Amino acid sequence: MSVHAQWSTRLAFMLAAIGSAVGLGNVWKFPYITGENGGGAFVLVYLLCIALIGIPVMIAEVMLGRRAQRSPISTMQVLAKEQGASGFWQIVGWSGVFAGFLILSFYSVIAGWAMAYVIESASGTFNAISGDGSGDVFGGLIGDPQRLMIWHTLFMIMTVAVVARGIRAGIEKLVVILMPLLLVMLLILVAYAFNSGEFGRGLAYLFSFDFSKLSTDSIIVAMGHAFFTLSLGMGAIMVYGSYMQKNTSIGSSVLMIAIADTVVALLAGLAIFPLVFANGLEPGAGPGLVFVTLPTAFGAMPGGQFFGTVFFVLLVIAAWSSAISLVEPAVAWLSERDIMSRAKASWMIGLFSWILGIGTVLSFNLWSGDEYKVMGKTFFDLKDYLASNIMLPLGGLLIALFVGWAAKASMSKDELNLSSGTFNLFWLAIRFVAPLGVAIIFLNAVGLL
Ligand code: PHE
Repeated sequence: MSVHAQWSTRLAFMLAAIGSAVGLGNVWKFPYITGENGGGAFVLVYLLCIALIGIPVMIAEVMLGRRAQRSPISTMQVLAKEQGASGFWQIVGWSGVFAGFLILSFYSVIAGWAMAYVIESASGTFNAISGDGSGDVFGGLIGDPQRLMIWHTLFMIMTVAVVARGIRAGIEKLVVILMPLLLVMLLILVAYAFNSGEFGRGLAYLFSFDFSKLSTDSIIVAMGHAFFTLSLGMGAIMVYGSYMQKNTSIGSSVLMIAIADTVVALLAGLAIFPLVFANGLEPGAGPGLVFVTLPTAFGAMPGGQFFGTVFFVLLVIAAWSSAISLVEPAVAWLSERDIMSRAKASWMIGLFSWILGIGTVLSFNLWSGDEYKVMGKTFFDLKDYLASNIMLPLGGLLIALFVGWAAKASMSKDELNLSSGTFNLFWLAIRFVAPLGVAIIFLNAVGLL
């Protein structure tokens, strides 16, 4: 077995984890699902899920990875043995690898839209464009499988090329440059929305709680999103934790990562909704929200060509640093078992996901008709719903159960090094609050509660 790599500093780990967490989930998905689910009340449920379920599960994932210093599959194998638990727990690693495939196979296509939109905005396509005109530009893109395939392919190559180079020479090098850049761009955009949009209305939309708009499905979507946005339940954060130095504090690192991710999502909302309202547009427009609505808003505003381009570059950067962490769990396993080199493993995993991604591409055009839908969902919707709202929370549930019930308390005590008060809080959260939270939301969703 090859020697397990390590980040060069704690900051490198933090930036990589934040890079994984902050992605399309924050900038594309969070605004549009908030719009679809009626605003403030949905945001509140999402924030509760982050605090009560997401943070404890993230602590657990990082801790497991760091303790075993192996890929998620081997981590679960080795720790189950060490703790005298059943071999069944490896399922967490395997389902994570599978969820990573599924997510990357649509992530890459959406990131491709963002890449196409960098070119469109920079070349002035959206200047003074009407709502219908913007809809046509978007419709033209997603209706054209060939163009989508080109961008999907390009994004997949960018992703794999980084992972193939390894932890320090690939992932770490990338995030150290991209993450500060992302923050600066986001602040520029929020300042822009503050000056040119209806900031007060955007703020009210995100934070006024109208519970009548909250359906059972909204709650499951909010929970699924808490897992998705924090990259939890599939081993991405676990594998990043496995490259962490032994002497860094897990609790405070995780808290900072979760706060950073949440702040970015809220800031993205504050950059987007004020512009939506200022231009009389519809917040519930669905996945097209940032691709149809927002360009119209930018097109109507002074400096919009520049700021619109900045926005889509930001989206590509956020997606890139997340996509690499979707591939890493599988690659880590293949290369640590010496089944193949890291580079080969990366290209192979990328290739599989790319092939599955063809189905995503077709979901928006040739397969968009009702005859191709299952339960009213396209192939893309199905993959997203299955991976984000079911597999990630299930993975998280199993991780919480493993740490809280199957393993001994001494494992968490040794690894986390918390004061006894804080430890008790974590212990309560990981044994009861997080698993019950996930279970109740699931049972409620299938109508059993
Ligand atoms: N957290 C990423 C986002 O918000 C998506 C992701 C999910 C990345 C799971 C890795 C693992 O876009």
